[in-house]
Amino acid sequence: MEYKVCKSDELPNNSIKVITVRDSKILVCRSNNQLFAFDNSCPHRGASLSKSEIKETKIVCYMHDFEYDLNSGKLIHIPSKWNEQNPNWTKSDNLLLFQLSEKNGEIFLHI
Ligand code: FES
Repeated sequence: MEYKVCKSDELPNNSIKVITVRDSKILVCRSNNQLFAFDNSCPHRGASLSKSEIKETKIVCYMHDFEYDLNSGKLIHIPSKWNEQNPNWTKSDNLLLFQLSEKNGEIFLHI
């Protein structure tokens, strides 16, 4: 299925949008002049990633600072301040990514 997200100029570089598709909140952003879309819920403990900082092609969750790569979705860094935590607590899946396309001045999400 293809869902219209917005017009291209409504999502300039370094901006985000959260949209709801099939009862799921999906974060769509343009960063480093690339488009990304992923589940707004952090795979670690479910914090809203829309409150987090996007650094070019990475996102750092505001809750515990876990860092995910936006191209692969992979968890790439857990801060050393959590080294003493139970390993079960630091477990996290990777980010759930979605595909986007941009055509004729509009952005579409593909699920
Ligand atoms: S909830 Fe996102 S890093 Fe813990």
